[in-house]
Amino acid sequence: MPTHQSIGGASDEDLLRRMVDTHADRFGPPFWEFFAARVEPSLPARPVIIDVGCGPGLLLRDLGIRYPSAALHGYDVTPAMIAHGRQLTGVTLTLTVHDAATQPLPHATGTVNLASMSSLLHVLDEPLPVLGEVRRVLAPGGIFLLNDWVRQPLETYLAWRRDVMKETGPEASRRGFRLFPVHNKYTADDWRWLLAEAGLTVRDQTELRASHRIFVATRAA
Ligand SMILES: C[S@@+](CC[C@H](N)C(=O)[O-])C[C@H]1O[C@@H](n2cnc3c(N)ncnc32)[C@H](O)[C@@H]1O
Repeated sequence: MPTHQSIGGASDEDLLRRMVDTHADRFGPPFWEFFAARVEPSLPARPVIIDVGCGPGLLLRDLGIRYPSAALHGYDVTPAMIAHGRQLTGVTLTLTVHDAATQPLPHATGTVNLASMSSLLHVLDEPLPVLGEVRRVLAPGGIFLLNDWVRQPLETYLAWRRDVMKETGPEASRRGFRLFPVHNKYTADDWRWLLAEAGLTVRDQTELRASHRIFVATRAA
């Protein structure tokens, strides 16, 4: 049984493998170009960075390589993800098994300079309390970096799985239909509305892949 909030029925091992295999593509040069231009200027010399739903910890590792003075905290409900992150070398990460849907973030109010959330929020039944927690912990001028799926037509989504993910055959077809409602839950407008409802102002956004939108948000005044 998956320990995380079920993502289309994938096993923990399957999800871990997919996150590791696709990491370099999802967080390649276009991502870091955007990050350097739109996020980095807001980071202090010794930023506190958290990644909620951090998966195998690879984004935190990459951040640690780029920002060696950062304090890096990762939270994930799946023990196998945290175990993978704890084996990473070359950076110091504080990784904790944590259910963001039911537990407050273990950070004092107004102390986090960058909160990242990548491909987690669409899974959660109730996004607003989780966004409220993110808003609470953000320091003045702190950034919330939301990177998540945006709705695509069924035909486009299935073609993307076939052509980009290179998935073919009956099992892949079953997986595509199973995941369609999971990955195509929110439009970009829905995300903007949710962020505004949670008291977060979108400062920047980009679409580096048709399947995902990245929002850079700060606490609304
Ligand atoms: C699609 S993966 C994304 C992982 C990572 N952010 C990345 O982009 O590589 C979603 C992650 O969210 C985690 N997750 C699901 N529900 C969660 C919850 N309630 N609290 C914390 N993490 C959760 C899963 O265990 C999984 O690692």
